[in-house]
Amino acid sequence: MDLFEKLKELRQKGLDEIKKATDEEHLNEVRVELIGRKGELTKILHSMGDIAPEDRREVGQKVNELRDLFNKQLGESKDKIVAALIAQKMEEERVDVTLPGRRQKLGSKHPINIILDDLEAYFIGMGYQVVQGPEIETDHYVFEMMNLPKDHPARDMQATFYIDDENLLRSQTSGDQARVLEKHDFSKGPLKMVGPGKVYRRDDDDATHSHQFMQMEGLVIDKHVTMSDLKGTLEMIAKHIFGQDRETRLRPSYFPFTEPSVEMDVACFNCGGKGCAICKYTGWIEVLGAGMVHPNVLENAGVDSTVYGGFAFGVGLDRFAILKYGIDDIRDFYTNDIRFLDQFRKEED
Ligand code: DAH
Repeated sequence: MDLFEKLKELRQKGLDEIKKATDEEHLNEVRVELIGRKGELTKILHSMGDIAPEDRREVGQKVNELRDLFNKQLGESKDKIVAALIAQKMEEERVDVTLPGRRQKLGSKHPINIILDDLEAYFIGMGYQVVQGPEIETDHYVFEMMNLPKDHPARDMQATFYIDDENLLRSQTSGDQARVLEKHDFSKGPLKMVGPGKVYRRDDDDATHSHQFMQMEGLVIDKHVTMSDLKGTLEMIAKHIFGQDRETRLRPSYFPFTEPSVEMDVACFNCGGKGCAICKYTGWIEVLGAGMVHPNVLENAGVDSTVYGGFAFGVGLDRFAILKYGIDDIRDFYTNDIRFLDQFRKEED
């Protein structure tokens, strides 16, 4: 066939093919077939040797014209395909700006933190300082300084996790008392502090025991602090947390770091004092331990016990939260079930 005929045919075929291609992939195939390195036009160029020399110039020109034409058509076709694709996407992914937004759920305060923050604010309001001792503590502060030498039988009251002979996970926040007493400058005024924080015990976890829980230590030392100051303070705490009408009582008890020692009970919130399964038919529920600071604790920290004295108390914050909110399993505090935590949202708002 005559080369000019061939070019004419290719022109028609090429334009048809370009028209038929409806997606980018197909269009690309057409491009390769027509003007690619091994495409139809290149083939013609390669066969120039067979053409009569006087025709070569014209054939060359036509080939170039045709390449330009194909290029132009391919470009236009591609633009059309892309525009159609965008139009389709816009249609499908249209944003309805009138739809209500998606609410992001915010977290809520943990029930123990609600009690903790509340008590902290309450004590700060009465002029107490808030201290935080280390969770990895020493035998020295947790026991020795608190009037519990190594062979003291009362050490068995708390099953302690020891790291080595001297270091341990504190089983009580009472060591904070010794740390603060050592540092306090009594010439600047009385010592009033609360020390909240985590404590650890070798207990098997069940509904009423946890190997980790929260305590809040309290200490007041001055020149003329009496047992009635202690009583008044404890009553205020109990009424602040459990309600103004809640009855309280003190029972004699024993702690190595206080003498005399007491435990405070509140009237059972379930039966109001008549006796039920929750209060083990006593009508009372124990909420904290306290007492007048033992002279040895003061002397160990270098404080003259003939001049200074005062009271201390230790509150179980988990216990407060359990009683206040009627929670029946202490493990709920530590297992991060959103359904449990969500119930305390209102408290905070
Ligand atoms: N540390 C005691 C405990 O863990 C609680 C306690 C009782 C603390 C009496 C005190 C206190 O400060 O005076 O069981």
